[in-house]
Amino acid sequence: MEDRLTTFNNDVIFSSDAELNKIFPLYMQQLSRRHWTPLQIAKESALYLAGNEEVNILDIGSGIGKFCLVGGYFQPQARFCGVEQRESLVTLANNTKEMLGLDNVSFQHNNFTQLDFHQYDHFYFYNSFYENLSGTDKIDDSIDYSAELYNYYVRYLYKQLDMKPEGTRLVTFHSLEDEVPPCYHVISSGRHETLKFWVKI
Ligand SMILES: C[S@@+](CC[C@H](N)C(=O)[O-])C[C@H]1O[C@@H](n2cnc3c(N)ncnc32)[C@H](O)[C@@H]1O
Repeated sequence: MEDRLTTFNNDVIFSSDAELNKIFPLYMQQLSRRHWTPLQIAKESALYLAGNEEVNILDIGSGIGKFCLVGGYFQPQARFCGVEQRESLVTLANNTKEMLGLDNVSFQHNNFTQLDFHQYDHFYFYNSFYENLSGTDKIDDSIDYSAELYNYYVRYLYKQLDMKPEGTRLVTFHSLEDEVPPCYHVISSGRHETLKFWVKI
């Protein structure tokens, strides 16, 4: 029988959103436009956060892993960690990172409130708590949503970011900015008007 071993050409996969989306199940592709970071946004954000340095970056609410996968590919010297509350998404993200052979990327199933923020240098945040608010698009109905949870998560993240040292970098995408303490300053904006690059001063 013919050997049908499949190999992945990462240069092709990371060449466009269309190519990258193809490696995910159809249902996840359909959620992409509203819930997962576009490739160019992830690439630009990863360059700002990693800055060609050997640093640990956390994606707070990593979904199917697009930001970390793109970051890990374009910034191979940095470590990209994702934390995600939906186990099925973590399984998919971990399977994808294995398939693509990205050893500097990892995903864990957890609520971000359970993490030790000392382990991470810089942070990516794509408005992960927004689906708790009424009238917003939901990924699925597997979790409970509430405005109370939104407020709790926002306050918790605010405190964690506030405790980080000067020089900590943060990228927000589509954020309402409630979670960003005033000691963080926007130093530039990305190609998308809601993409902001912050540093703690
Ligand atoms: C808008 S998606 C962004 C996914 C990914 N960061 C990206 O850019 O492609 C937000 C994700 O955050 C997750 N999330 C929301 N609240 C969370 C929490 N408290 N702890 C861990 N994950 C959370 C959601 O399940 C969802 O998958």
